[in-house]
Parts: sequence; structure tokens; C-alpha cells
Amino acid sequence: MHIPLNPLEALRIVASQFARLPYPTHDFTGQTIIVTGANTGLGLEAARHFVRLNASRVILAVRDPAKGAAAAESIAVSTGRPGVAQVWDLDLSRRASVEAFAARVNTSGELDRVDRVVENAGVLTKKFAMDPDRVCEQTITVNVVNTLYLGLLLLPKLRETSVKFADETTGASKPRETVLTFVGSFVHFLTWFPERRHPSHAGVFEGLADKEKARMFDRYNVSKMMELLLVRELAGHVSAREEKDPAGAGRVTVSVVNPGWVITDLQREGVGLLMALGRRFVARDTELGSRTLVHAAQGGRETHGQFLSDCRVDQASGWVRSADGQATQKKLWAELMEMLERTNPDVRNAL
Ligand SMILES: NC(=O)c1ccc[n+]([C@@H]2O[C@H](COP(=O)([O-])OP(=O)(O)OC[C@H]3O[C@@H](n4cnc5c(N)ncnc54)[C@H](OP(=O)(O)O)[C@@H]3O)[C@@H](O)[C@H]2O)c1
Repeated sequence: MHIPLNPLEALRIVASQFARLPYPTHDFTGQTIIVTGANTGLGLEAARHFVRLNASRVILAVRDPAKGAAAAESIAVSTGRPGVAQVWDLDLSRRASVEAFAARVNTSGELDRVDRVVENAGVLTKKFAMDPDRVCEQTITVNVVNTLYLGLLLLPKLRETSVKFADETTGASKPRETVLTFVGSFVHFLTWFPERRHPSHAGVFEGLADKEKARMFDRYNVSKMMELLLVRELAGHVSAREEKDPAGAGRVTVSVVNPGWVITDLQREGVGLLMALGRRFVARDTELGSRTLVHAAQGGRETHGQFLSDCRVDQASGWVRSADGQATQKKLWAELMEMLERTNPDVRNAL
């Protein structure tokens, strides 16, 4: 009833920290790109790359407008391209904010296209608290539930862009590839995720909302494991829809990217001595880590449904790929959809 710790996987994680990552050169001319949590850390540096690489519009989706404005200004100064980075409100801890953001993207008429969405925002906390809607524990809400929900709500716009701005490069018109990528983590290798079989609760999400049984030291790892499983399932649904309706569904590439261990504000609650030493000698600097996000956003059909690391397709943990992992993936998906349908009965229409 546990996930075996695999020493080879542990070695891979450490070795990956020293991988060489190519400086991004892909051209995003004319494209609109959304980056959540783009006021600092990996999101900010990825957004800076997108602006530098000629994107027409980069939406910084942030929960604090003042921090967002400072980030937009910093990007404008460093790239010499004022006005490209725009700040939009998004608080992933509140479902209403996710819905308002998605409505603004999909129906306000402000965006004629969305080419890439980088779901980067995330939180690491050891403090148990329910989210403001009192649905789930806050880490699970931000890193998993509302991150997936936002992805679902933005799928129609990505599909519309894919079809409307068809790729004419080969002469024959075919849907343009658009990308929905989620920032996951190598920490999914590290969790035993015992909550997947919570004996006293009907569901995993419900079990994780039990303060008495919460294992907050491992909660962030669990959230990244759940995010990975759910995105893999989402990618399967997107493929199925594209097979059924190739003309209408376009081509949306869905992936999970692991940036490695990177120096950012994520561990803002503090780190112990060992972690501090690790950060000093092993962790990547923020710009270096952000290259993995830009690589994921570039897409490529070989990245669809995949776990990306070090700017290439990698393998998720053995457990994720095991029969137990697959079964857990299906179970989590069913729970997530059921939870979202309680307040949005139409959510499955996005699939
Ligand atoms: N750093 C690493 O070593 C590492 C490794 C693997 C994966 N990751 C993942 O990389 C992603 C980016 O993290 P980071 O390392 O760059 O950390 P960071 O510097 O702390 O950035 C996290 C971003 O997420 C935003 N955010 C947090 N809660 C939010 C909410 N409720 N609504 C909207 N935005 C919210 C933060 O906004 P505020 O500034 O307003 O809080 C911030 O912009 C996360 O998904 C993280 O799990 C990081």
C-alpha cells in the first residue's frame, strides 16, 4: 500500500539538476500566451522569455495586481517591449475567480486567440487551511483542483485558436498546434501518497481535507502527484475528442513540465540547513529553470500527454505508470469531475 522508493529514480533526479538546458530561441511571433503566477519565480522568467521571443501578448495571470504591475514593468524594461505583458486577475484559491478569468478569456472579446497556456502558479505550505470556498485544503485547491479546472475552461479557446488560425506552412491547411502545459515537479517521485486509499473517507479529496489526518510535510508532493495523474488523464480525453472530431477539435498539446529544483519564492516559509545548502549548490537559478517552461510551451506532438524534464520528454515515476497508478488516475479524475459538476454542471462539455 505504498509507493516503492526507487534508488535509480532518485539518482536521475539529482543528475537532472546538472543537465545543460538550451537558451530559448523559438519564435512566438503573433501569439498570445497566458502564464499563471507570473509575478515572480519561474512564471515571471518564462513570461520574460515569451516577450523577448516576439509574442504579441503575454497575459500575466496573478492574484496581486500590484505585484503583477511590477512584473510587467520589469519585463518591459528588460526586453524593450512595453505593453506586451498585461496583468489579469486570477486567484486560484477561489473558483469564482477562475471562472471570471476564463470568461474574460473566452467571451469578453479581448483576446482573438490563445496559443499557449502555461499553468505555473502553485503553492507550498506546511500549514493546514481550507480554501476560501471551503471545498478542499488550500494546496489541493490551488495546485490541483482549480489548476485543472482552469485548464478545462480554457480548452475551448485553445481549440478555437487551433482551428481559426490554421497552419498553412505545408500548403495544406491543418489545425495549428496550441499548447496547454502544467508545471509539475520531480517531487511526485518522492511521495508515498497513502491518501489515495484513505480508509475512513469516501474519496481522496475528502480525505485530504481532514485536518486531523493531514500529513502537511508531504502535502505539496502529493499535490504534484495528483496534478500529474490528472493531466495525463486530461490529455487522454483531449486525444479522444480529436480522434472523434478532427476538424472541430483542433490540435491541443497537453503536457506536464518539471523545472527541476529552482531557486524561487516557493519555499517562502523557510528551509532547513540541508535544504539551504542544497539550494546553494544544487538548485538551478530561476532563469535557467524557466527554460523548461518555454520548451514545454513550444509543444510538439511528441510532448502530448508526457512528463517533460530538462527540455525533453522524460518518464514519470514507475508508480505513475503502474496499474495502481493508472487506477488511481481514473479514480481521481472521476472524483474531480464529480466535484466540479456540483457547481458547474456543464464542465464536461469542455472535454
Ligand atoms: N522552485 C522549484 O524548485 C520548483 C520545482 C518544481 C516545480 N515547481 C513549480 O513551479 C511553479 C512555480 O513556482 P515557483 O517555484 O516559481 O514559486 P514562486 O516563486 O513562489 O511562484 C509561485 C507563483 O504562484 C502564484 N500563486 C500562488 N498561489 C496562487 C493563487 N492562489 N492564485 C494565483 N497565483 C498564485 C504566486 O503568487 P504570489 O507571489 O502572489 O504568492 C507566484 O506568482 C509551481 O507550480 C511550483 O510547484 C517549482
